Amino acid sequence: MRVYIVDDYEQMSVKAALIVAGQITMKADSILGLCTGSTPIGMYKELVKLHQQGLDFSHVITFNLDEYWGLSPDNVQSYHYFMHENFFKHVNVKPENIHIPNGLAENVDDECIRYEEAIKQANGLDLQVLGIGRNGHIGFNEPSTVFIAETHLVELDADTINDNARFFPSREEVPTRAITMGIKTIMQAKKILLLANGEGKAHAIKEAVTGEINPGVPASILQLHPDCTFIIDKAAAKYL
Ligand code: GLP
Repeated sequence: MRVYIVDDYEQMSVKAALIVAGQITMKADSILGLCTGSTPIGMYKELVKLHQQGLDFSHVITFNLDEYWGLSPDNVQSYHYFMHENFFKHVNVKPENIHIPNGLAENVDDECIRYEEAIKQANGLDLQVLGIGRNGHIGFNEPSTVFIAETHLVELDADTINDNARFFPSREEVPTRAITMGIKTIMQAKKILLLANGEGKAHAIKEAVTGEINPGVPASILQLHPDCTFIIDKAAAKYL
């Protein structure tokens, strides 16, 4: 695991975008795993700037980590909407190459199997970008007693619902369930890039980087990944 500590959010975003751009430069048809949340917004902005300078996404295939269960793609709080607003509508990823779990699928088990299969059919993820929850979650893999393997439906922790309530008109409107790639799906990515900023993430980062590998801190399993890079700002590195 490589840990880069940078001064601030802007440096984190620029460095992350350069790594993603490097991946696309190396392999034009890269399979990118993408994440949502406030953390990667700066990285997406930088990628849009790089696209305006010539970075080509036309062969790139994307798979998002997760989606709220019960939200339609045009709901402004859905991760579909987030991705289109913050990234896809500004770059040239082909619509047919964009994959995000369907939060309204008729049968959730079938949707999880379909999503996992689509990633396998694409030969797996070349680079997965992650944020981290304050409780150490990645994607929506919440602290647990076991590492849940593949794409699945998850009940969100009260902490996660509280944290994400800032994006919703009220806490009551935050969905309580989500579809997420599992830990195995994430760990099978060839490269992983985790971003974190702010003191609120400092404890989770300490546990993920220096703590015991245990499903109580889902991100701790990243210590076992052969090509994992953390880019964190000074505040998130406070306890390292
Ligand atoms: C959500 C997402 C995660 C993300 C986390 C942190 O729970 N499912 O993928 O990493 O929020 O979000 P933020 O970047 O807003 O702190």
